[in-house]
Amino acid sequence: MQKIIVGNWKMNQKLSDIGAFFTEMSKIKMELRVKAMIAPQSIHIPILKEMAFTLGNIYVGAQNVAATSNGAFTGEISAESLRDLEVDFVIIGHSERRQLFFESNEVIQKKVAQAMTHSLPIILCIGESLSEKEKQKTLDVLFEQLSSALLNSSAVDWSQLTIAYEPIWAIGTGKTASFQEVIEVHEKIKEWCRQHLKVEVPILYGGSVKPENAPQFLSSELIDGLLVGGASLRAQDFKAICMSAPR
Ligand code: PGA
Repeated sequence: MQKIIVGNWKMNQKLSDIGAFFTEMSKIKMELRVKAMIAPQSIHIPILKEMAFTLGNIYVGAQNVAATSNGAFTGEISAESLRDLEVDFVIIGHSERRQLFFESNEVIQKKVAQAMTHSLPIILCIGESLSEKEKQKTLDVLFEQLSSALLNSSAVDWSQLTIAYEPIWAIGTGKTASFQEVIEVHEKIKEWCRQHLKVEVPILYGGSVKPENAPQFLSSELIDGLLVGGASLRAQDFKAICMSAPR
């Protein structure tokens, strides 16, 4: 399967940075070795879609979606509006949303339902904190996040679902989970999906991914791709990560 490389730009990149990023990307011919995706700030989605279209084979998504349908919810962005913009995917449940914006499992379940209703492909992020890891609660936490987000939904089409395993302690810290740790967790998540959703779900790893560690992660069949924060802001690093996928 083609590996999936997602750049999560978070609240970064000015318009001028975006232009420079795509100019740089266009210099090196991107092989169709991976499915490359970028989630910019929502306000930049239309311009990114235009640039990505010119460059070809880059998909553009949103970092978040409202938990409700259209209505009096100042500042929110609905799944319907994202659909209108023809975004290719939406990230839901990133740990920054969970921790800094207090998104509970219940809220995340509603966001999943909204995205499903509007046929938006979802990247659902799950991950444990350092203290949960130290208490050996990683799998309990992950399964709880999966169950609450996915099993309470009336939607049944999981073909558009991707899961990103992002240990919170590895995000933006420079510390990555070891290859072995990631493989073991991915195997368990895949089993959980087979058992509860009855489908094979692609699982990405995220947390301090860089051009140096990407090749090892991408060498495993249990790692379907990577969710990249910091290193996705520099075209050369993002490109190098994309190019490190096995042929
Ligand atoms: P990072 O972020 O690569 O900067 O650790 C990953 C993420 O938050 O998705």
